[in-house]
Amino acid sequence: MIEKIKQLAKLSADQIVANRRHLHANPELSFQEFNTASFVAAQLKALQLSPEFMANTGVVAVIEGKKPQSRVVALRADIDALPIMEANEVSYKSTKQGVMHACGHDAHTASLLGTAHILNELKDSFEGTVKLIFQPAEEKAPGGASIMIKEGVLQNPAPQSIIGQHVAPQIPVGKIGFREGMYMASTDELFITVRGKGGHAAMPEFIIDPVLIASHIIVALQQVVSRNLSPKIPAVLSIGRIIANGATNVIPNEVTMEGTFRTMNEEWRAIAHTRMKKIAEGIAESMGGSCEFTIMKGYPFLVNEPALTRRVRKAATDFMGQENIIDLDLWMAGEDFAFYSQQIDACFYRLGTRNEARGIVSGVHTPTFDIDESALEIGAGLMAWLALEELRS
Ligand code: NI
Repeated sequence: MIEKIKQLAKLSADQIVANRRHLHANPELSFQEFNTASFVAAQLKALQLSPEFMANTGVVAVIEGKKPQSRVVALRADIDALPIMEANEVSYKSTKQGVMHACGHDAHTASLLGTAHILNELKDSFEGTVKLIFQPAEEKAPGGASIMIKEGVLQNPAPQSIIGQHVAPQIPVGKIGFREGMYMASTDELFITVRGKGGHAAMPEFIIDPVLIASHIIVALQQVVSRNLSPKIPAVLSIGRIIANGATNVIPNEVTMEGTFRTMNEEWRAIAHTRMKKIAEGIAESMGGSCEFTIMKGYPFLVNEPALTRRVRKAATDFMGQENIIDLDLWMAGEDFAFYSQQIDACFYRLGTRNEARGIVSGVHTPTFDIDESALEIGAGLMAWLALEELRS
């Protein structure tokens, strides 16, 4: 079966690359992927599948083998682009000013369309159902995944497991990365306003200095990560923006700060939210000021269910060869695939797209990001194989 899938992937390779280039040239921002969704739906219809729209710009379809009720596995690709101006001079360069597929979601989408083609060819030779999820708005809160889940993407039919892939510009093309257990972080945004009483910087006895209060808060917040949390749970708290709009001799009335808090444990995440607020409010109050602490909850942490991930990794090893499977490190970035991982068994793996000889080395979310397109054939075939193996498990 592996040889059969590799053959089918090879036959579809030109089409997958063409699809990827079409998507790359026509990127759409999160929640605005109307043309992308129509394109995906048209491709699925051409395979005689019956795609349905969800979350406005998401597309879902099923490929039923024999005994379609026996087992269901979901495959997910995200479809949105980023507000970045492309700097690559390539034939498939973005035609939209300031919008670019700089995170490889064009590759994920084209690859999953290729997988759909392969699985559709093989539907008489497997049992169960493969659910294809083309998901919008991975890049923007609250994340397309959370909306699709609310709209029932994990029901009717309900998948037992879900698999997603993401391009990896740090991993050479031809290699695949896995990590069992916690993999990516929850992402919460912090918005802090410290209020005092401004005035002449030379007369501190008449003012309540919000700059000094804010400084104490920044330092004290670090102890939430270093002293309140078990060292076994990764976490990071960074304040990246602080505005105290006074002058050399003027203390302002208020200071605003923004930051991010990331961790890999949902219980601890909730506790940390309370601690951060208490510390900041307590310091401000003790110094005569006040503090408004707002947390915009982002994506949860992403956990690769161990048993599923071991099965998928074993299947990938059979498909790719042991020498092409690598271990991934923890990654403190966020990814809305995490929402699925909080609901059902999930596995999110990385598809190598780096080619140093060809200068394809730029990181995701940069204006020079690109992929070695030979990864597309690999990704499409591998995902088809992983789905079939999962249906058999
Ligand atoms: Ni991405």
